Amino acid sequence: MIDESMGALPARGVAAERVLGEVRELRGLDRPTHGGRLFAYVYDPGVAGLDELAAAAYAESAHVNGLDPTAFPSLLAMENALVGAAARVLGGGPGTSAPEVVGSVTSGGTESLILAVKTARDARPEIDTPRIVVPASAHAAFAKAAHYLRVEIDSVPIDPETLRPAVADVAAAIRPDTVLVVCSAPSYAHGVVDPVTQIAEVAAAAGVRCHVDACFGGWTLPYLRRLGEPVPAFDFAVPGVTSISVDLHKYAYAPKGVSVLLHRDPALRAPQYFAYADWPGYTMINPVISSTRSGGPIAAAYATLRHLGDDGYLELTRRTRDAVQVLADAVRGVDGLRLITEPESTVVCFTGTDSGPDLFVLVDELAARGWHTQPQLTYAGLPRSVHLTVTAAVAPRAAEFAADLAEAVAAAAVAGPVTLPPELLALAGALSPEALTGDLVAGLAAGLGLGVVGGPDSGAGGGLPERMAPVNTLLDAAPPALRERLLVEFVSLLQRPSY
Ligand SMILES: Cc1ncc(COP(=O)(O)O)c(C=O)c1O
Repeated sequence: MIDESMGALPARGVAAERVLGEVRELRGLDRPTHGGRLFAYVYDPGVAGLDELAAAAYAESAHVNGLDPTAFPSLLAMENALVGAAARVLGGGPGTSAPEVVGSVTSGGTESLILAVKTARDARPEIDTPRIVVPASAHAAFAKAAHYLRVEIDSVPIDPETLRPAVADVAAAIRPDTVLVVCSAPSYAHGVVDPVTQIAEVAAAAGVRCHVDACFGGWTLPYLRRLGEPVPAFDFAVPGVTSISVDLHKYAYAPKGVSVLLHRDPALRAPQYFAYADWPGYTMINPVISSTRSGGPIAAAYATLRHLGDDGYLELTRRTRDAVQVLADAVRGVDGLRLITEPESTVVCFTGTDSGPDLFVLVDELAARGWHTQPQLTYAGLPRSVHLTVTAAVAPRAAEFAADLAEAVAAAAVAGPVTLPPELLALAGALSPEALTGDLVAGLAAGLGLGVVGGPDSGAGGGLPERMAPVNTLLDAAPPALRERLLVEFVSLLQRPSY
C-alpha cells in the first residue's frame, strides 16, 4: 500500500484513510511497543484505555505553544502541576526539608541532563574551564552535555562488583573548577543506585552542586520503598542534592517527550533560563532548550498522571517488582547464566558464565522467540551483558520467560559462538577511528548482511538482519571510539532522504 515513489509530498494530497493506513503499515516494521516483550526503549503499564486517554489529551493540546506561557495558560498550569507532582514524589514540596523545589518540563532525559549541566556551568561564570565529575556508570547524556557545552568530564571508575563509584574516588575527582557532581538513581545499564547521601555530602563540602539523575527510576524507587524494598536515600531528603531529573515518559508511563528537571530552590534554577531581547522580534525567554514546544506531550503526561494516580503507580510498581523477581529467578534457574547484580530496581541484567552461551547469539535466539532484550557490550572490565528494562506490562508474561530462556540458551549452545574472520576482528581491534570511511563501513555492513536504505538489500525501513550477533561481536571487539565511528557511519547511511 505504501507508494514509496511518491514520498511525503505527493503531487496531489492523499485521502486521510489511506495515509493512516500507510502509517499503520510502516508501524508494522517496528518492535512491539506493547505487550511486555520489548525490554528497552518503551514503557508499557498494560492499563486498558490509558493510550486512548493520553492520545486524546495530546490531540487537545498538540497545537498549543509552550513558547509563551502567558498566551497559553493551560500549558503553564499543566506544567506546574507536573513539576509539583514530581517534586512531591522526590521528597520536595510543602512540609518537606525542600519546600521550595522548582522545575521545568523538558522533552526528555537528555535535555534535562544538558540543562542541569548548563545551569551548573552558568552558575560559575568565573570558571574558564568548567568540569563535571561523572561516574562511569552515568548515562551517556552527560557526555553529550559536556560535548555540547564545552565542559570537561572527570570520569570516576565503578567497582566491577558493586557497579558503583567509590565515594573517596568521587571526592578525589572534585577540583576547584568542578561545577557539578553527578550520580544515578538508578543507573540505566545495571539498575543500581549510587551512594547518593555520601556523594552529595562530599559535593556540598566542596561547595559544588550535586545532580541526581533519576530519569530512569525516579518514578519507581519511591514506590518500591513504599512496597518495603530497601531503597537508599536518593532524593531531596538528602542534604546537598541540588537538582534531580525524572522522566515521565519512562516509569510515569506518559507518551514520549516529557521529563522534569527539578532544582532545590529558585536561586539554583536561575542560570537555567535563556533570555534575549536584542533583536527586533519578541523577547525570547526560554527555561529549556526548545523555544516552541508542543503542548501535546505535557497534556498527555498530565492526563496519564491524573488517571493513574498515586495508588495506580503503587500497584504498577508492585507488578513490575514481581515481574523482576520472576525474570531474575528465570536467569538463576539456567545453567550458563548469572545475574550481573541482584536486581535492586526495575532492571534485570545478566551475563554468561565461562561455560555459558554466546550472549549475542542468545539475544538473537530470544528475539526469535519474541523476547526483545538489549545486548550491552564489554566495557572497562565489565563483561558483555543482557539488559532487561522491566515494566508493569511484563508481569502477565513473566512466567513464560523461564521456559523460553532455557530453550534459547540450549539453542545458542547448539548454534555455537559467532566466529568472525580473524582478520576482521583484528581490524576492529586495531583500526583507528579516523581511518574509517563511509565506504569501508558500507562494505562492512554489506558483508555482515546489513541492508542500507536505498541500497539493493533495503526493505521499506532499511534494514537490520534477523541475526545481529555478528554485528554485536564485531562492535564488541572494537574500542569505544571505534564503536562510535562505526555506528555514526552506519546510521548516516540509514539517514538518506527518500525522494
Ligand atoms: C538514567 C538515564 N538518564 C538519562 C536518560 C536519557 O533519557 P532520554 O532517552 O529520554 O533522553 C536515560 C535513558 O534511558 C536514562 O536511563
